[in-house]
Amino acid sequence: MSGNDSVGGPALMSSEASTSMPRLATSIRELTKEYVLKSETVRALRGVSFDVPEGDYVAIMGPSGSGKSTLLNLLGCLDKPTGGSLYLGEDDIAEMTDDELAEIRSTRIGFVFQSYNLIQQLSVVENIQVPLYYQGRLGSGEKRRAMELAERVGLGDRLDHRPAQLSGGQQQRVAIARSLVNDPFFVLADEPTGNLDSVTTDEILAIFDELNDEGRTIILVTHEDDVADRAKRIVRLKDGMLHTDEQVSEERRVAARLAQREAVEELLARE
Ligand SMILES: Nc1ncnc2c1ncn2[C@@H]1O[C@H](COP(=O)(O)OP(=O)(O)OP(=O)(O)O)[C@@H](O)[C@H]1O
Ligand SMILES: [Mg+2]
Repeated sequence: MSGNDSVGGPALMSSEASTSMPRLATSIRELTKEYVLKSETVRALRGVSFDVPEGDYVAIMGPSGSGKSTLLNLLGCLDKPTGGSLYLGEDDIAEMTDDELAEIRSTRIGFVFQSYNLIQQLSVVENIQVPLYYQGRLGSGEKRRAMELAERVGLGDRLDHRPAQLSGGQQQRVAIARSLVNDPFFVLADEPTGNLDSVTTDEILAIFDELNDEGRTIILVTHEDDVADRAKRIVRLKDGMLHTDEQVSEERRVAARLAQREAVEELLARE
């Protein structure tokens, strides 16, 4: 765990302090999550603390079972912590009702999953609009926005396709467009390139680079070093605890981008 954890969280960051320090997208302190099963209690997170400033791009790494998805689900308000505090912006998640959490989830957070989680019966444009259904927002403006997002992720010519008619990379692009339809506070991605080949991984990471360049905060779980090296920061979990927290130098990020590009070009040249 880092040694300079300050007490208090983002409440201290507001008004007077905010001129010199970046605002926080999220702040967690001594976060714990226990899953209570019949025979045992699994301590998936055992007191994790860190801050994520707005505009950061964090890769969460760590062995299988170390608590990465648990952490991401808490950040995404899909589940509630057992203990500790979790702020999104200046809102204390622990204090919220289920309805308030659902509201935050559907308006401020974009999710991308390894297995895309698209609805097979719906077209590309309809899938992108799914988060809006839950808010009862389904006008022509929303449809136009979904079409623009499809265009943005390179699927402008696939608007009426169903997921089964798309490649894995194209399906993940639909999922990214869906995650952006609410103009979310931040984008959370759990192994978004886990099922993709290196060419497609590169394309998806290029979209994340672009989103981050626009100022969006990204938190991504990955097992792959070359994916993590493209983030601005790597947080490693081990046994439900924060193991290391390192900044990725600009040189390393550029090198990772180049290495991936070269590998892709080599692959394409062989085909
Ligand atoms: N719903 C659940 N009920 C009970 N135990 C759970 C639940 N979800 C996760 N766990 C347990 O919590 C621990 C952390 O799981 P988690 O899914 O967060 O790991 P992970 O780091 O994402 O692993 P992977 O890299 O395999 O995806 C594991 O021991 C897991 O078995
Ligand atoms: Mg996981």
